[in-house]
Amino acid sequence: MRPRAPFLFLFLLAISHTPAAEAPPAQNRLVIHADRGKAKIDRNIYGHFAEHLGRCIYEGIWVGEGSPIPNTRGIRNDIVAALKGIKIPVLRWPGGCFADEYHWKDGIGPKEARPTMINTHWGGVTENNHFGTHEFLDLCAQLGCEPYICGNVGSGAVLEMQQWVEYVTFDGVSPMAELRKANGRAEPWKLKYFGVGNENWGCGGNMSAEFYADQYLRYATYVRNFAGNQIYKIACGPNRDDYHWTEVLMGRCTKRMNGLALHFYCGTGKISRSATQFDEGDWFHNLKTALRMEELVAKHSEIMDRFDPQRKIALIVDEWGAWHAVEPDTNPRFLYQQNSLRDALVAGLTLNIFNRHCDRVRMANIAQTINVLQAMILTDKERMLLTPTYHVFEMYVPHHDATWLPDELTCADYAMGEEKIPAVNVSASRDAAGKIHVTLCNLDPNRPAPIDCDLRGAKASRISGRILTAPEITSHNTFDQPARVKPAPFEDARPTDRGFSATLPPKSVVALEIAP
Ligand code: AHR
Repeated sequence: MRPRAPFLFLFLLAISHTPAAEAPPAQNRLVIHADRGKAKIDRNIYGHFAEHLGRCIYEGIWVGEGSPIPNTRGIRNDIVAALKGIKIPVLRWPGGCFADEYHWKDGIGPKEARPTMINTHWGGVTENNHFGTHEFLDLCAQLGCEPYICGNVGSGAVLEMQQWVEYVTFDGVSPMAELRKANGRAEPWKLKYFGVGNENWGCGGNMSAEFYADQYLRYATYVRNFAGNQIYKIACGPNRDDYHWTEVLMGRCTKRMNGLALHFYCGTGKISRSATQFDEGDWFHNLKTALRMEELVAKHSEIMDRFDPQRKIALIVDEWGAWHAVEPDTNPRFLYQQNSLRDALVAGLTLNIFNRHCDRVRMANIAQTINVLQAMILTDKERMLLTPTYHVFEMYVPHHDATWLPDELTCADYAMGEEKIPAVNVSASRDAAGKIHVTLCNLDPNRPAPIDCDLRGAKASRISGRILTAPEITSHNTFDQPARVKPAPFEDARPTDRGFSATLPPKSVVALEIAP
């Protein structure tokens, strides 16, 4: 007989060199504790942010009454309809860095009489103040969302902030209420969310935590509750991992604030900063950075727990998202960037993190709504397109105000050189009608992710699903091809004895609806 050893050796050598991409995908195990849901996922986690920056407000939202673009009192009808499609719950305005140089009285009264100002942060362009308090509150009324106004601490006076709240909410006779009436609004508005400054550690005045804490207490004192209107006061919070800021604010201001605002942008690729021209290394790097939100939220919450064990004060992530290079031939200070499948994954995994921390994170505002940073919508004159990020927000709507269901996930890694991240990311909730919603992201662009789920305390009788994926990691929508990346039905999930199983295609966001 001829010796078999060389063949065995060659065979073993061959399988040991099978490229990883061809290896069978690892089974991922998920447990959803449907019997342990307590905390509510506040719909405001799905909130937005619109600043006077580039083409977000002007062109994006506001075109003016005389525009040929269909509008209602100057506000684009197509944008309002699209944002209603994702049930926008809350909108933060007017900034951002712009907030701390905005003087609200310049934005009321007859438009032609409103003074102009220089938007020094964002391109030094002239702001005509045509979109002001009345227009913003009209926008929120058209959208059916809560307004969230950010006041000026950096360059504004205490009196100015006090009078803004009086102008908007006071129902009796007062100088500001009379001014409001003279400007055509008899009834006060309801205003719940008010931010006392923005990034006061940076563009909002370059303050130390200690100095800002004192300023916060002073300004917040004069943010009054009128006519039964109860203001929910939000203090400027930390930049990323500035835990000292959280310590100081929680140590000094706990009794006088309702929320503390964290800002974290996950940046872009490692080599390429382009929103659409990047390789898998850039994809991996951006998603790995986005996953840092988990650590930031957990560590800031830990500090907050020491001062506020009952979790009365919310962590409000009122600026987050990816920050890429601007599109070629556009103003670098207008922050106009494209939005690809990678951004959809950034949104999907970040929203899953917020859902899983919903006992502390009660509002988040992605930056920014239209034409700026990780936008929902891009516009080109009368045309508009929905970005992949928009579609994720739409797919996650069933989580709004649902009961969060704790989960445990054991999953394969997605590796890049020496680095690795968990390939799968998940969150689950139960809605008021008793249906369970599970949103899953497969961050690995090469391998499918088979999932076996043990659904404890519930039965999966029927499952339906939707998926967002695309042929390339860089796939994105353009004005000529606005539907390259859009949700499609997902057929690859089925009930099992213990729960359900599903196979997530590479680079996908999947939303499942499970009926008992
Ligand atoms: O969202 C763009 C800018 O990023 C905001 O104006 C500022 O608050 C942050 O630094």
